[in-house]
Amino acid sequence: MAKKIVVIGTGYVGLPLAIMLARSGYEVIGVDIEENIVNAINEGVLHLAEEEVKQIFKEPQVRKKLRAQKTPCEADVFIISMPTPLDEKKRIADLSQVIGGIESILPCLHLGNLVIIESTVPPLTCRQLIAPLIEKTGLRVGRDVFLCHCPERILPGDVFEEIVHNDRVIGGLDGKAAQMAKEIYASFVKGGLYLTDDVTAELVKLMENTYRDVNIALASEFAAVAEGLGVNIMQAIELANKHPRVNILKPGIGTGGHCIPVDPWFIKEVDPVNSRLIHTARLINDEVPYKIAAKIRCAVRGIKDPRIVVLGVTYKPDTYDTRNSPALKIINLLREDGYQVEAYDPLAKGYQYASIEEITKEADCLVVLVEHQVIKQELAHHETEIKKSIRHPLILRFYPERE
Ligand SMILES: NC(=O)c1ccc[n+]([C@@H]2O[C@H](COP(=O)([O-])OP(=O)(O)OC[C@H]3O[C@@H](n4cnc5c(N)ncnc54)[C@H](O)[C@@H]3O)[C@@H](O)[C@H]2O)c1
Repeated sequence: MAKKIVVIGTGYVGLPLAIMLARSGYEVIGVDIEENIVNAINEGVLHLAEEEVKQIFKEPQVRKKLRAQKTPCEADVFIISMPTPLDEKKRIADLSQVIGGIESILPCLHLGNLVIIESTVPPLTCRQLIAPLIEKTGLRVGRDVFLCHCPERILPGDVFEEIVHNDRVIGGLDGKAAQMAKEIYASFVKGGLYLTDDVTAELVKLMENTYRDVNIALASEFAAVAEGLGVNIMQAIELANKHPRVNILKPGIGTGGHCIPVDPWFIKEVDPVNSRLIHTARLINDEVPYKIAAKIRCAVRGIKDPRIVVLGVTYKPDTYDTRNSPALKIINLLREDGYQVEAYDPLAKGYQYASIEEITKEADCLVVLVEHQVIKQELAHHETEIKKSIRHPLILRFYPERE
């Protein structure tokens, strides 16, 4: 049985995983190139805004079993959880950090090791890129060391619930690799553990986020068509969803976060011919912030030097995560045009405020880009006072309501 696990990259994915493995009794070494992250872990400070994970991090067993350092060391299992951002120019996966992580463990690898890739990667990456890198050591994948892709599905904001209860797909380059990885995940995952091959696991992860992206694009197109026809989109969606096999999503201000606007490109990268719908959905979703910015410009047209207060900067409601946020894109587009825009968000670090009434004093327009529950409630309870505090009683909301 594996005893010592090295987790390379202790961010949103790697650190909660390292904590859960330590709680299960493994000796865990979290490795990160960022010194402040390493120090924070060793001092028992969690740099992620995840309450339940914070509590588990304080447990004596976890504090005893988990430590962090800047470079890898020998172990039984290595888990790679480095970012795989989009190369914005080429619209392909930038695998440089994953490659860096693999290269950093090569001197530590020995007979019988298991390497698990948790990072999201384009199909064929494990067998065509990572296995040959590992084999530079002289160790053969499938004979001397074992390689597996176990993509992560967690939702920031609800990491503990999801890391424990979500089903997991475990894709081994061979059956032994998958079995070895299953044993590790079985130590804390209560969801199902489904074994398959590496390429299937790579594709499955991308299909999940692409499914969301395409459906969001569809909702967005429906909303635009409904607006042109003078139809209330929420009523139309509610009625369409009465069909037993229809489940249309709610339109919003575009897609964001770490995965959805990125992962569909990895499918297009490996098969552009068969991913036309996927590509089009990506373009539609990327266009939404431009359309919203245009609507805001239109709304404040008659106001001289309008002071715009924006509420909500996260990538979707009820999360603190601002990565790839379409709201931030809209704010930047308006600022680039010379508008005075102040941005607030009750959940995002650095954007907090006392009350909506307070921040809208002297404002010409309140733009609600992301409707967290707390924002909705405050608007519902204090709408009259808020309208009074805005110079022009202009409140723009982009999450359509059922009339
Ligand atoms: N965040 C999510 O919600 C989520 C969900 C599912 C899958 N994923 C995937 O998981 C992977 C990791 O994402 P994340 O959100 O945890 O990223 P992150 O940016 O939060 O964390 C990655 C960490 O890796 C460190 N790092 C980079 N290069 C390194 C190296 N060579 N050696 C050691 N440390 C290094 C960084 O300093 C950082 O702390 C990505 O492929 C992502 O697509 C993320």
